[in-house]
Amino acid sequence: MQITVNGKRFEVKSGQRMIDVLNSLDIPLPQVCYHPQLGPIETCDTCMVEADGKLVRACATPASDGMSVVTSSPRAGAAQRQAFDRILGNHLLYCTVCDNNNGNCTVHNTTALLAVEHQQIPYQPKPYAVDLSNPFYRYDPDQCILCGRCVEACQNLQVNETLSINWEDPHPRVLWDGGAKIGESSCVSCGHCVTVCPCNALMEKSMLGEAGYFTSLPKTALDGMIDVVKGIEPEIGYGAILELSEIESAMREGQVKCTKTVCTYCGVGCSYDIWTRGRHILKVEPEHGPANGVSTCIKGKFGWDYVNSADRLTKPLIREGDSFREATWDEALDLVARRFAEIKKESGPDALAFISSSKCTNEESYLMQKLARAVIGTNNMDNCSRYCQAPATTGLFRTVGFGGDSGSISDIEQASLVMIVGSNAAENHPVLATRVKRAHKLHGQKLIVSDLRKNEMAERADVFLQPRPGTDLFWLSAVTKYILDNGLAKQAFLDQWVNGVAEYRESLAPFTLEMASERCGLPIETLIQVARTIAEAPTVCILWAMGVTQHVMGSDTSTAISNLLLVTGNYMRPGTGAYPLRGHNNVQGASDHGAMPNYFPGYQKVDDAEIRAKFEKAWNVSLPAKPGLDNHMMIDAIHDGRLKSMYVFGEEMSLVDSNANYVSAALAKLDFFVMQEIFFTETCRFADVILPASPSLEKEGTFTSTERRIQRLYQVMEPLGESRPDWEIIQDIANRLGAGWDYKHPSEIYEEIAPLTPLMAGVTYERLEGYKSLQWPVAEDGSDQPLLYSKQFQFPDGKARLFPVPWSEPSNQQDAEYDLHLNNGRLLEHFHEGNMTYRTEGIKQKTPCTFVEVSPELATERGIESGSWVQLTSAYGKVRAQAVVTERVQGKQLYMPMNSVEEPVNRVTSSYTDKVTHTPAYKETSVHLKVLGERGANPLPRTNSRFGQPTPQKGVEVERKWKRNDYTQPGNDLVQIKIG
Ligand code: SF4
Ligand code: SF4
Ligand code: SF4
Ligand code: FES
Repeated sequence: MQITVNGKRFEVKSGQRMIDVLNSLDIPLPQVCYHPQLGPIETCDTCMVEADGKLVRACATPASDGMSVVTSSPRAGAAQRQAFDRILGNHLLYCTVCDNNNGNCTVHNTTALLAVEHQQIPYQPKPYAVDLSNPFYRYDPDQCILCGRCVEACQNLQVNETLSINWEDPHPRVLWDGGAKIGESSCVSCGHCVTVCPCNALMEKSMLGEAGYFTSLPKTALDGMIDVVKGIEPEIGYGAILELSEIESAMREGQVKCTKTVCTYCGVGCSYDIWTRGRHILKVEPEHGPANGVSTCIKGKFGWDYVNSADRLTKPLIREGDSFREATWDEALDLVARRFAEIKKESGPDALAFISSSKCTNEESYLMQKLARAVIGTNNMDNCSRYCQAPATTGLFRTVGFGGDSGSISDIEQASLVMIVGSNAAENHPVLATRVKRAHKLHGQKLIVSDLRKNEMAERADVFLQPRPGTDLFWLSAVTKYILDNGLAKQAFLDQWVNGVAEYRESLAPFTLEMASERCGLPIETLIQVARTIAEAPTVCILWAMGVTQHVMGSDTSTAISNLLLVTGNYMRPGTGAYPLRGHNNVQGASDHGAMPNYFPGYQKVDDAEIRAKFEKAWNVSLPAKPGLDNHMMIDAIHDGRLKSMYVFGEEMSLVDSNANYVSAALAKLDFFVMQEIFFTETCRFADVILPASPSLEKEGTFTSTERRIQRLYQVMEPLGESRPDWEIIQDIANRLGAGWDYKHPSEIYEEIAPLTPLMAGVTYERLEGYKSLQWPVAEDGSDQPLLYSKQFQFPDGKARLFPVPWSEPSNQQDAEYDLHLNNGRLLEHFHEGNMTYRTEGIKQKTPCTFVEVSPELATERGIESGSWVQLTSAYGKVRAQAVVTERVQGKQLYMPMNSVEEPVNRVTSSYTDKVTHTPAYKETSVHLKVLGERGANPLPRTNSRFGQPTPQKGVEVERKWKRNDYTQPGNDLVQIKIG
């Protein structure tokens, strides 16, 4: 397609927005409200151009073949200036003393671009106070230019639907929940609005008074300076004032550092720039992340205070009796190496075990498994995917061959139907959930949710199923059977791509709709509706998480999900596939890089002689052939006296493993226990040596997110005190045991991984530079596979396999004594047990402690109110917490978030596990509830977002602005604007 711009001809792609065309051609054009990730909002009118002689907004006009566009005609230029003049009427230009004067302020830059010297419409403050009630950001109505970017982001990208603008008011402003204080609204502090605000109206509090040279002056002095600027503006014009502010902005460059990192919390894999001044984190700025763009959640945007927490471990500690003393690194490392060598000599290498951290880097997991295998000589090596993801991986290994998400988040976004089973995605994978919420709200995507709790995704779903606990396998199999029996399967796909159809069909005989209805407590009509909706949908993605995997049938239920996708032909195409949502930031990568008892990196089997020979040659050692102990088996082996020593890094085992009392008792029995951590955690209490490590901001490396995306993180700041990156510590221990390693940078570790690991053959640091990423498998030439199965499945004949899975009863069912079902998991604000997130004061204010959700029915029956203290007792232990009465749970089901160090829910969970992977059946817990008779305030304060009242609307609703009596489209009533 050809268009003419300012008299010159250009080739452009059809379907592009005019504004994107002009931007790609580097033709200067003011554009205040436009943000490519939000799309046209049309509130600012500054992008007016003449297209074929008509004044139009470039952001809302598609380029068409033969179009003639003029961006700087007198008419277009005057319209742009008039529009921007109106904006300046809403914003006080005090750039030199503004924390947002960092070269990227849209208002500042547009003032410069249009060479505005004086404004026609005088600045008018608005009759509202600054709102500082959110712990993380502030809103200053006097600086708000009413562009509506924040509203669009909140309504249609984050889809929390908190923000709106009261266009009909004489003094419009941004409203939270239609007029509440920010801190008492439904705002989940995701930060989208702050990130996209083009000026300083919404700003991170961590920026205020910290970013500029003059911004920390007392308010009276600042006001005085602003008055001086206002006073001289009529005389000298904005040009000279902006020059001054640009000097101040340039001076900041030497002080303010922007470093790309990857989020250290969940598995979505958000990446962003961290702005720092010294060790102070000014802000987190997402924009270019391949998984997240401008999106974050509360943890990624604001949950970083732990890095500078006063209680970080900064020196090695050695146990002396019941306490610890500080030690030098040499002393601590010598002790570790000596005791490991002694234990190996006395009891053999399998008396030692190693646990890698799924919060640490791929390179660190690789080194940990190399230490275990090549230096000590044991396969006793695991990571916390054992606690959550191993069953999903098994389900995929059985059916399609690779243990990873079969596409990308963009596939989930474009699917015509998304089904979520046992996953509270809006809280646990918040940014990924926004893509589903957006597609559902704006693009007609259908949503089916199956969960015990009515979580946010369930509230939004077209169909919501609440099956009995632990029965997902049954209804999933019944739905698949119905599809097969009624000729709704994708027969051509099955014929071409799938083995084992006949045996599988036969195995489904017991899974009738009637039986499923009885077992699962779901109406037959609903099951038929689900089956037909899936069968009829052009493209289906199924998402699942710990609500599926943490059961005795976790692997089999994951298999049933993949079977259903195969029967309906929902693999091998964009917008389809299986998506087990990985929990920790690098739980995928830890397993990918060999932190498992049975696999070398890249899922190469340790008991395969040829594979072993390859690693033996590369590492110049002989390696153990027998698969080692997994986490669960390690605990039993300690109790049995077979396992004497452990080395764990970045894993709060004593709280997050199931049946915590049993686990803690085991850890206490170890002869020699090494913990490597950033804080003195509960698990550290059992250690003999504690080595202070550095969190992600203090080191380099790579993480692999849920969509198999490998991304680099760069060092933001130096390690605190004497703490050190984990890879350096592991290397030092290995070398003290004679390994002779010499890695100077994590990139050198990856240079060793890639040639040994076909899955990662083409991964290099250069190919991952900056925001570049790769989704494995990565061929030697660097080509990757965002869509995992495009040419074949990962089996020798290239075909997938339907894998029959029988039904068996859940463990630990309710009885007369333990009559209530206890469900547990994470919540939005805290990550896991909360060791990191509790150190962010604002998160603690919003969600200070754990609690127990109780249904209104049960609350009435037992006389419980929100705030009542209750004790939950199981066959394994007790916990105390306050109740929150809520309709999220039903009947005799309770829910307890796992964010507690004092009262961890795992004191009452059992040692039952998934039969195949030994993933604990955390979600199969029965308890007795005792009301303790004391009552306090609701453990969730009024400021928690749950109590807000969102105001869903279509977006900014600019049409309401256009209907105002005082609105005219710029250029249509041209007044003379002073230019230059
Ligand atoms: S939820 Fe809160 S932080 Fe997130 S976009 Fe909406 S108003 Fe902003
Ligand atoms: S607060 Fe919202 S409407 Fe106001 S300037 Fe910022 S993004 Fe625009
Ligand atoms: S916790 Fe997850 S969703 Fe939130 S910012 Fe980090 S990666 Fe993104
Ligand atoms: S950028 Fe087009 S109307 Fe604002």
